[in-house]
Amino acid sequence: MASANPAFLIAGNWKMHGTMAMADQLTQAIQHGFNHDQVKVVLCPTSLHLTTVVKAAAGSGIGVGSQTCHTAETGAHTGDVAAAMIADAGASYAIVGHSERRTDHGETDEMVCAQAEAALAAGLTPIICIGETEAERDAGEAEAVVKKQIAGSMPTDLTSADVILAYEPVWAIGTGRTPSNDDIEAIHTVIAQAAAGATSDKAAPRILYGGSVKPGNASEILPLNGVGGALVGGASLKAEDFLGILTAAAGVASS
Ligand code: PGA
Repeated sequence: MASANPAFLIAGNWKMHGTMAMADQLTQAIQHGFNHDQVKVVLCPTSLHLTTVVKAAAGSGIGVGSQTCHTAETGAHTGDVAAAMIADAGASYAIVGHSERRTDHGETDEMVCAQAEAALAAGLTPIICIGETEAERDAGEAEAVVKKQIAGSMPTDLTSADVILAYEPVWAIGTGRTPSNDDIEAIHTVIAQAAAGATSDKAAPRILYGGSVKPGNASEILPLNGVGGALVGGASLKAEDFLGILTAAAGVASS
């Protein structure tokens, strides 16, 4: 039986990668290669591949999520996908406010908040991404930046169980670089405090760490205080690497 509140949630953000065949095969490989009640697996392919992944993951307990969603329920928004469509495709999560969306599409905190609200209204769990740039960290502004992002992009009329946050320092995404363990713990503490202040139960939502998570560093990052899982980009595209991270998470959860 899968736990209602597993120790870790590990989400694979496939970004703009894949084919129907790859989406099917990778999902099958993950569901056949891993099963642990304390590790929730969530796969986030492009919207085009959602139904393929939903079908391949059927009955396995693997969750499926989109990489964004529009703020509106429906309407004249060429090229966009509504949260209700994502839910209708069988998904249960929506990543919102990823730094690549904030950069490529000019998404502001206000837009990300509206996306998270749209996701919630459609019955999806939003995974709201926040994180500072390298220049902001160098300037000593990392904590102020994430606090501002939480204040702006996290809906307020919800409980801690309704949303997930993902702390992804922009400079760690796809670079092979990660913050020190102390830095991860310090900023997760700040994020937890700020986010708890915004929930009705005054508890912190689950907070994922994202940015160059690999099989080789997962066992070091996941036990850190305040880390409730990982949002994995590059290493989620190869079954062997993603399974390595999942196995590391299971090891930490069981220890
Ligand atoms: P990465 O990406 O694991 O390739 O660094 C993480 C992300 O962008 O979610």
